[in-house]
Amino acid sequence: MEFFIDTANLDQIKEMQELGIIDGVTTNPTLLAKEGAEPNEQLKKICEIVKGPVSAEVIGLTTEVMVKEARELSKIASNIVVKIPMTKDGIKAVKILDKEGIKTNVTLVFSQNQVLIAAKAGATYISPFIGRLMDNSQNEIDTLWEMMEIINAYDFKSKLLVASIRNARHVVEAAKMGAHVATIPFAVLEKMFKHPNTDKGLEAFLKDWEKLQNQLKNK
Ligand code: G3P
Repeated sequence: MEFFIDTANLDQIKEMQELGIIDGVTTNPTLLAKEGAEPNEQLKKICEIVKGPVSAEVIGLTTEVMVKEARELSKIASNIVVKIPMTKDGIKAVKILDKEGIKTNVTLVFSQNQVLIAAKAGATYISPFIGRLMDNSQNEIDTLWEMMEIINAYDFKSKLLVASIRNARHVVEAAKMGAHVATIPFAVLEKMFKHPNTDKGLEAFLKDWEKLQNQLKNK
């Protein structure tokens, strides 16, 4: 399973990149707005840090504008993947971009039928927003299982990129079903490292070691 980090923050990306645990990055207009920098400059910096896929989203709503924006975004770096919203115009854009060899990530996906349509259109990645399904009182895990079943049933080339992850359990659930990618916020990645027994166990080991050293000294 690949881990992408869901942020446009350079410090967060650098920290996780140095740990060697991330394979790519996803951004969206909200995440870029949080950073306050010129978006294309920020995306260029991100692509210099991470060599894996970096998702950058179009703003236009028509196929024509989306395709134009996608071509521009893909010039930023060779690892840019263009995020396209799950709309009729978006799907038309995905088909055109797929033929041009521009990788796409169909975003704002909430249903199994949307997955089927995006996969048939040739999306490179499909991003179900499971946290937002949960916010809507839908069973996000059952929905995700069915999405994964659909991708596997027809051997589509699209990869399921689980997005809007809110907690470490979401990552486990995505891994259990063999989802190709999870894009994870920095705070959740940090939590995935931790367990209280690891800290407690380490503290006890060090204490016992110190005790032994003192005993040996006093022999
Ligand atoms: O990758 C999509 C993600 O950024 C959306 O997450 O938490 O805003 O639903 P959230």
